[in-house]
Amino acid sequence: TPITSPDLSKCSTGTNLNTQQPLDVNCCPPVSKEIMDYTLPPVRKMRFRPAAHLAGEDYYAKFEKAVGLMKALPPEDPRNFMQQANVHCAYCNLTYQQTGDPNLKLQIHNCWHFFPWHRWYLYFFERILGKLIDDPTFGLPFWNWDNPNGMIMPEVFARKDSPLFDARRNKSHLPPALADLAYSSRSPTNPKKIIPNNLTVMYSEMVRNVSKLEDFYGAKYVVGTAPDPGPGSVERGSHMALHGWIGESTPTGEDMGNFYSTARDPIFYSHHTNVDRLWTVWRGLRGPKPKDFPDSDWLEADFLFYDENAQLVRVKVVDTLDNEKMGYVYQDVDLPWLKSRP
Ligand code: C2O
Repeated sequence: TPITSPDLSKCSTGTNLNTQQPLDVNCCPPVSKEIMDYTLPPVRKMRFRPAAHLAGEDYYAKFEKAVGLMKALPPEDPRNFMQQANVHCAYCNLTYQQTGDPNLKLQIHNCWHFFPWHRWYLYFFERILGKLIDDPTFGLPFWNWDNPNGMIMPEVFARKDSPLFDARRNKSHLPPALADLAYSSRSPTNPKKIIPNNLTVMYSEMVRNVSKLEDFYGAKYVVGTAPDPGPGSVERGSHMALHGWIGESTPTGEDMGNFYSTARDPIFYSHHTNVDRLWTVWRGLRGPKPKDFPDSDWLEADFLFYDENAQLVRVKVVDTLDNEKMGYVYQDVDLPWLKSRP
């Protein structure tokens, strides 16, 4: 049986996954009795998601304005920035029971729902931003850390007066530090080797180590599966490495290095937009090989989000398979790691 939407009224204080202690913040969303089954609206104008290092000042002016407005919404509005950040905490930090097996918790990471769930999460975050600035074509920027030209944190996120700034980061990883896709606090990569090493990491995650669908997506997770059956290659590797690389170098790693706080850092959304883009890129590289699990246990799984009109909606994995049907495309950029077979 597929994972289905949690009962929001049964949301509880979750667990800090870095310390395994109860969380000292409440990240439960507002409850709403009215849930709409979401159907993808017809695409009139495609949203364009640019590479963060290639986007211009005009674009950033819009993006900063939109995030500023989102932060200024009333705190109880489910579209408010902190509410959006808490959505991530609630789906990750074991605040919900699995519908159908109350003894087990819901966790959408480290399993085959990682890509689809985050795609929906960004989808609504982007639509809320677009609505706040009255621009239905607004698309999130992707942090193009798989390309040497994009490996430094995009500078605007490090400007202290920007709504994209977050003080809770590792100070030695601000620009001009190069992102380390194999980062671990115990053994950071030799700075001279970061670029070639990053490219090899990408090749392994996207090409070499992903012959089976589970290798890329992560392990099967259905009602009755204990949380964390196993992450896919990108989730386990470059994705997690950068979470830890950006967060403070403390055991609790706020903001980016801890799941409850990670989405409080605006760079989270550009980090994940790149992860989402890599999903699209990987599908393109698959050629005739299957790109999706055919199981209804995957396709029919559903989640709840608040949309840009603050309506609670139920969304399915099956609707995430094609980003163009969801109304957005990515700026086309080089894939230098394709030539980086180790
Ligand atoms: Cu939901 Cu990068 O984690």
